[in-house]
Amino acid sequence: MKRLGVNIDHIATLRNARGEFHPDPFFAAKYVNQQGADSITIHLREDRRHIRDLDAKKICSIKNLLVNLEISIKNEIVNNALRIKPNYICIVPENRKEITTEGGLNISKNKHKIKKIIDLFKKNNIRTSLFINPTSKDILLSKELGAECIEIHTGRLANLVKSKKKFRKELLRIKSSCKLADEIGLEIHAGHGLDYKSTEILSKINEIKEFNIGHFIIGESIFYGIKNVIKKFKKIIK
Ligand code: PXP
Repeated sequence: MKRLGVNIDHIATLRNARGEFHPDPFFAAKYVNQQGADSITIHLREDRRHIRDLDAKKICSIKNLLVNLEISIKNEIVNNALRIKPNYICIVPENRKEITTEGGLNISKNKHKIKKIIDLFKKNNIRTSLFINPTSKDILLSKELGAECIEIHTGRLANLVKSKKKFRKELLRIKSSCKLADEIGLEIHAGHGLDYKSTEILSKINEIKEFNIGHFIIGESIFYGIKNVIKKFKKIIK
C-alpha cells in the first residue's frame, strides 16, 4: 500500500499573505490527517516564507500524526529541526531566489555535511530521507551516507506530462533509479510538481512507497475541497 503525504506549506503561504492567523496550518495538519493523509509534510525554509518554527513545533506535538519536516543543511535549520522533533526529516537543497525546490541535492558537493546530519538525526531516532534527482550516482551516494530513504524529484516528469510533451525517457530514468534504490535497500518516495495525471503514471512503479504532494492538492481543494482531493489521490495511488 503506497502512502500519501500531504504538504501543507501553502496553507501557511495563504495565512502569511494577510499577516494574520487564518488559515491555520495547525488546524490543517489535523484535518488533513483525519481526511486520510498518511503523513504531513512541512518545509521550514531558511526565509520562513511559509511554515514558521512555532507552526512546526505545534504540528509536531499533535498525537498520532506523522510529520515529515523538510530542511536544508544550514546549521541553524538543522538545530531548529532537532528542537522541533519531527518523525521524519527530508533534506532538500535550498536556493534563495527559487520559487520552489528546483532540483535534487548536490550530494557529492556536500557529502561530509550530509553524512554528519544523517548521523545526528539517527542518534535522535529520526529517519532521514534525501531529496535527489533520479541518477544512479546519487542513489549510491545516498546509501553510502547512511540515508534510510530517498525522495525522487519528480519535477521534470511532472512538467513534461503537464505540457503534454514526451515523458517516456524521464519515466524510464525514474523507473531504473527506483529499481536500483530498492535493490540496495533504500525506501523510495517521490514528489514535486505532481498532479493527478503524473501521480497516476508514477503509481505504477511498485518500488515507490510514498508520494509527497502539496501545491496541486491545496490549489485543487479551492474548487473541490481537500477531503475530496485527498480521496481522489488515495484512490489513484492504491
Ligand atoms: N517533496 C519535496 C522534497 C519538496 O521539497 C516539495 C516542495 O516543497 C514537495 C515534495 C511538494 O511539491 P509540490 O508542492 O510541487 O507538490
